[in-house]
Amino acid sequence: MDSSNKINLLLIEDEDFDVRRVKNTIKIFAESFHLRKVVSNGADALKILEEESDVYDVIIMDYQIAGAIRGEELIKRIKKINPTLQIIVITKLTINITDFEFAKNLVDAGAFWYCTKYPGDIEDYIYQPTDFLMSVFNAFEKKKLQTQTYQSNKKLIKNIESILQQKKIIGSSQSIVELKKKIEKLAESDFSILISGASGTGKELVANNIHYRSKRRFENFVPINCGSIPQELVESELFGYEKGAFTGAAASKAGLFEIANKGTIFLDEISELPLNAQVKLLRVIQEGEIEKIGRTQKIKVDVRIMAATNKVLEKSVEEGKFREDLYYRLNVVPVFIPSLKERTDDIPILVNHFLEVFCLDMGKPVLKIDENVVEKLTQYNWPGNVRELKNVVQRMIFNATDGITIDIFEQSLLKFTDDKKLSKTIFNFGGLDKIKNMKNLEKEFKIEYIKYVRNNSSSDAEAAEKLGLAPSNFHRLCKDLGIK
Ligand SMILES: Nc1ncnc2c1ncn2[C@@H]1O[C@H](COP(=O)(O)OP(=O)(O)OP(=O)(O)O)[C@@H](O)[C@H]1O
Ligand SMILES: [Mg+2]
Repeated sequence: MDSSNKINLLLIEDEDFDVRRVKNTIKIFAESFHLRKVVSNGADALKILEEESDVYDVIIMDYQIAGAIRGEELIKRIKKINPTLQIIVITKLTINITDFEFAKNLVDAGAFWYCTKYPGDIEDYIYQPTDFLMSVFNAFEKKKLQTQTYQSNKKLIKNIESILQQKKIIGSSQSIVELKKKIEKLAESDFSILISGASGTGKELVANNIHYRSKRRFENFVPINCGSIPQELVESELFGYEKGAFTGAAASKAGLFEIANKGTIFLDEISELPLNAQVKLLRVIQEGEIEKIGRTQKIKVDVRIMAATNKVLEKSVEEGKFREDLYYRLNVVPVFIPSLKERTDDIPILVNHFLEVFCLDMGKPVLKIDENVVEKLTQYNWPGNVRELKNVVQRMIFNATDGITIDIFEQSLLKFTDDKKLSKTIFNFGGLDKIKNMKNLEKEFKIEYIKYVRNNSSSDAEAAEKLGLAPSNFHRLCKDLGIK
């Protein structure tokens, strides 16, 4: 072993005779050990470790030493400074050797190992040398493992912190302040959650915030839009199937509940969940089990369920489209996000936030925005809520060269939300800069029109309904046209 690979020791021992015996015992393995310091009391040891805990690997400490800080108390305080440090306790033979409680208390306090000193007439060694050295080697191995785990946990925590930074909930209105408090509380619990609010108010954002603050944060957050999967495929998506469960099932498929195991599943547009899948969902909540298609045995899962809706789910219950028992199971603590026009205080803060984020993203200096634009933005009624505001800010940055003026604002706001503007671009042939072929024109029309209908609907499901399309067909069409 070269010196950098030596095991670094700190000895806490107040009797010179025993200091000599320890030194002598480890001397045999001098190429593996480096006894860096010897101190005679707990206070000195803590002082050294507070300054440079990183240079030590294993602490050898006598149980009976002078000073107020010793024994279990000292062990706990060392572990508090650096939990990866390993401690081997040496005790006088006077300790009853069958006293299991004594040994257990040491380990519970955080000691790695303990051994009883040889009687005083053995002058050369503190303990059976190879046993003693083996325990130091083992302690060092544990220290390396713990350091690795500690570092990868630190990395994970850093990742989570950066996710939360990106998914920060912006706003200072009373309702947002209360919402943030509720999120903290819900993150500590494990209840199922139903989040309601109009389209674009931030339901998925809230679900993310609860998950990444909860004890499940290192596990998957699996979002799924119940309205976007064809009804006949919902069960196989959610619960999976076994190979050969039906024609075409060439291999088994894990359902989203399995993927979300130990983590969180986010069921968006829950009102669109077919009734048969609702029954199965209820079973997952009640029994913690899923029924995979083609499998007789149920599978245990531990998944937190969060659902979102922009419909009044009570109405769906009344109409018999949503199971009442499932509704109550999901809605233990209701989370409601008010629409943006009910919290106009948040608008200037959100505008500034998005300005900053997008300008930095585009490598532009943060653009100045005219006061009267902010005022206009505050007065607008935002049917698409924060999502629409975010899009408008993005468009304003795109359209602006210097600052954001009222002209830029009008140009950016009215793009898809004004009837007349739409007819100008689509039906006023003079407005077309060049003649387009039929196929391209058709596509362009569909894109613009779908965006228009979407911006004037409270949800994708509603937009689909207005267009006379099944939600799954609507989503397929959007995908084909490249609309997100
Ligand atoms: N308070 C907020 N602070 C910052 N960003 C927000 C806030 N609320 C919403 N957003 C952003 O607005 C967009 C829409 O939010 P989100 O997707 O969570 O809404 P939603 O309620 O789930 O919408 P939908 O009903 O259409 O599914 C996202 O980009 C989100 O990050
Ligand atoms: Mg959503």
